[in-house]
Amino acid sequence: MKRILLIIGGGIAAYKACELVRLIRKSGMAVRCVVTRAGEKFVTPMTLAALSEDKVYTDLFDLKDEAEMGHIQLSRQADLVVVAPATADLMARMAHGLADDLATTLLLATDKPVLAAPAMNVRMWLHAATQRNVAQLRADGVTVLEPDEGAMACGEFGPGRLPEPEAILAAIQRALADGADVLEGQPDFDMGEKRLTHKHIIVTAGPTHEPIDPVRVIANRSSGKQGFAIAGALAALGARVTLVAGPVSLPTPSGVDRIDVESAREMEAAVTAALPADAAVMVAAVADWRVDAAPEKLKKEAGPPALNWHKNPDILANLCASPQRPKLVVGFAAETETAIAHGQGKLLRKGCDMIVANDVSVDKMGGEVNRVHIITREGVDSWDRMEKSAVATRLAERIADALA
Ligand SMILES: Cc1cc2nc3c(=O)[nH]c(=O)nc-3n(C[C@H](O)[C@H](O)[C@H](O)COP(=O)(O)O)c2cc1C
Repeated sequence: MKRILLIIGGGIAAYKACELVRLIRKSGMAVRCVVTRAGEKFVTPMTLAALSEDKVYTDLFDLKDEAEMGHIQLSRQADLVVVAPATADLMARMAHGLADDLATTLLLATDKPVLAAPAMNVRMWLHAATQRNVAQLRADGVTVLEPDEGAMACGEFGPGRLPEPEAILAAIQRALADGADVLEGQPDFDMGEKRLTHKHIIVTAGPTHEPIDPVRVIANRSSGKQGFAIAGALAALGARVTLVAGPVSLPTPSGVDRIDVESAREMEAAVTAALPADAAVMVAAVADWRVDAAPEKLKKEAGPPALNWHKNPDILANLCASPQRPKLVVGFAAETETAIAHGQGKLLRKGCDMIVANDVSVDKMGGEVNRVHIITREGVDSWDRMEKSAVATRLAERIADALA
């Protein structure tokens, strides 16, 4: 039976947590509730205990529970930790790693996936501080649901309403299925084990921008999300990660050294400067071509400019041929047709050890999910369609296996 640890924050929408508890039980899962001090102002532990058919936890310093179970075990005994409603305050404390009450201590101590369903006034939701905290939580691997839009208890209108309990239950089921996907077929490993300690890994991510003049560039649709997720997953396994990032506005994953570049030539120089490395994961969508950039802005009146094209350096092939070639070089191939055949060709042409091929005609560049094929000289391993964060976790494990 799957077990949910439900943390209920102090917002008006806490009453909907009662319905969520009922739905979780009805779907055949167990649920244990933790209520914040502010949450207790909105729902009583008595109601939640009756609906969950379990004890409800409120106090970090409840010595009896510390003796019986301890806050660490409480955080680990669930398959998924759900925060609903996630108040602005709770998310701020989570984003900053505070542990000043039972809820935040559990959230910091848990080794399980965390799903947060925010609910607050529209201004609180749209405030730069809240948006910053949400971005940080997402970068840290927390699934933060988008709040619903509509009329609020406070009389205002906009995004900030707690998603309906049915929608939260569906998100819980998705999160549990994703978790099973990621771990399926993998040997048991200690989640705290740092399998890549003392390894240096270079990751490239994002697009490159090739200037046409001081204001115009040749770009592509790469969002950088997959590369950033991989950098974060490798760092989580203890690697020293140098992330060479093209122009994207993503937050830097924790524990990652980031070098921002613009063009393909700058990216190659940054990769070379970061060597030596044990592995390189080249996720960036590097422009194949650049043009001679005009020193001044091109004028419309002069008519369509004649662009003088040059081939960009092939960063992946050059790295593979370099005397400082890392032991493991992983390339990415985004194709719109026959991804596997193209990937196999690229593996041999470039001289790398692994190609991660994805069909970007199915999952558009910039989306949240990816379906990838892992191509090596030994064969092809096609993974199910999954969140980019799940691809990253699984690939990081595979890289750790290869470097072991
Ligand atoms: C009547 C009332 C309703 C509130 N509703 C919300 C809410 O919907 N969302 C929110 O983020 N904070 C809300 N707050 C503010 C939180 O209760 C306050 O930030 C509290 O410190 C949250 O504590 P917690 O994060 O530990 O649960 C409300 C406060 C009051 C008095």
